[in-house]
Amino acid sequence: MTQLTIVAFDGTRYDLAVENGSTVMENAVRNSVPGIEAECGGACACATCHVYVDEAWTEKVGSPSPMEEDMLDFALDVQPTSRLSCQIKIKPELDGLVVRVPERQA
Ligand code: FES
Repeated sequence: MTQLTIVAFDGTRYDLAVENGSTVMENAVRNSVPGIEAECGGACACATCHVYVDEAWTEKVGSPSPMEEDMLDFALDVQPTSRLSCQIKIKPELDGLVVRVPERQA
């Protein structure tokens, strides 16, 4: 298990022990984190699973694929640390990862 923290827009922290191989989006939905809509179910086709990766983690998480970047164009309030949470796969190197949910989704 790997530790993942998702911070909702109102500041509520969800400290989760999650399975490697799952995605940040799947864990957000499973734990009813508000603000992650994930309308396309993780197909990188909706941009309603947008999160901000904590700056301490951006390098380890890596950059979005070209397909994800195209889809991020549809997200609101995009920042340099923006990612689609369905495209971030949990792995042991990401133990302690922190992401924040934006105020609104596309
Ligand atoms: S769930 Fe649709 S892009 Fe992530």
